[in-house]
Amino acid sequence: MVVTQSPVIMAALEAAVRAPSPHNSQPWIFELAADAIDLVLDEDRILEICDPDGREARLACGAALFNLEVAIAAAGRVADIELAPERDRPSLLARVELGPRHRPSSAERRLAAAVPRRFSNRRPFTEQAVPPAARAAMVQAAQEEGAGLVLLDEHGLLEPVAGLIRRADHIQNQDTAFQAELRDWAKSHGGDDGVPDFAGGPRSAGGLLPVRHFSGSKEIRIFEQDPLVAVLTTPSDGSLSQVRAGRAMQRVLLTATDVGMSASFYSQPMEIPSTRGELRALLGGADHPQTVFRLGYGYPGVPTPRRSIAAVVREKRV
Ligand SMILES: Cc1cc2nc3c(=O)[nH]c(=O)nc-3n(C[C@H](O)[C@H](O)[C@H](O)COP(=O)(O)O)c2cc1C
Repeated sequence: MVVTQSPVIMAALEAAVRAPSPHNSQPWIFELAADAIDLVLDEDRILEICDPDGREARLACGAALFNLEVAIAAAGRVADIELAPERDRPSLLARVELGPRHRPSSAERRLAAAVPRRFSNRRPFTEQAVPPAARAAMVQAAQEEGAGLVLLDEHGLLEPVAGLIRRADHIQNQDTAFQAELRDWAKSHGGDDGVPDFAGGPRSAGGLLPVRHFSGSKEIRIFEQDPLVAVLTTPSDGSLSQVRAGRAMQRVLLTATDVGMSASFYSQPMEIPSTRGELRALLGGADHPQTVFRLGYGYPGVPTPRRSIAAVVREKRV
């Protein structure tokens, strides 16, 4: 077992593993050196059916990278980041080195404080509308990381995108391999990964936005009437763009958490090439959709489990 003596690295790792990941698969490994962390994509944890290209796994790793950065900054050190530091090792997504001492800004402290409070909230939100300032803060959060955030109601796109989500959800519900993989992560991984029953959401009465059905619960609830749904986009779609998209995704989620908001994901149309293409066309055809969120004011919930730090670190290969 690798044990780090550095409290800053330990705090950074604790934050990193709180990142969201598809089916709570946690597809990351952290290779430790004295003052550096290498973030490696754990290819064995890519969801074969849902995410065959590993795009969502790279988003998850990008989110873990963002958590590393804010935790290091909040602990009073500069985080020097290099993406894809070794050309011949594509699974090595990023190298994070502890730089000089640094006085954390209040924004960095707030983002770091939001890390343990964020969770995917699949339950109905209140009817409270998201005010312009919070909308602008989330759009800016995406832009700061080189991404875009399209708030669908501002473009008259909620209905067509919701229709696409329902269609993709239906296709996935008919797909026995997809369902088997989902059940596997929903149940047998009931320990320190996968999605436990308590984190699953109820079915939506009326069904505007179908919640991915992790739990066996038959509960049906009325969801908020005017959901705020947003699509995160990037100008390009290579592996590194997907890591950057993950950073942007996490900055949006932490910004939302910081102002008391909740979020959940609707990735169904992203996981089928044809519906992802349709979503891209609906958004104008230029940028690439990376993930779809519902944002709003939810009720408190309980964070989902994570594997221990010891299970996700190893000594850096030399
Ligand atoms: C790229 C990506 C796609 C996701 N897609 C969905 C989804 O379609 N439906 C859903 O309910 N959760 C989705 N999730 C949320 C994960 O299931 C969740 O992050 C994981 O179970 C850990 O829980 P937490 O977010 O509460 O920490 C997605 C997460 C990521 C990173």
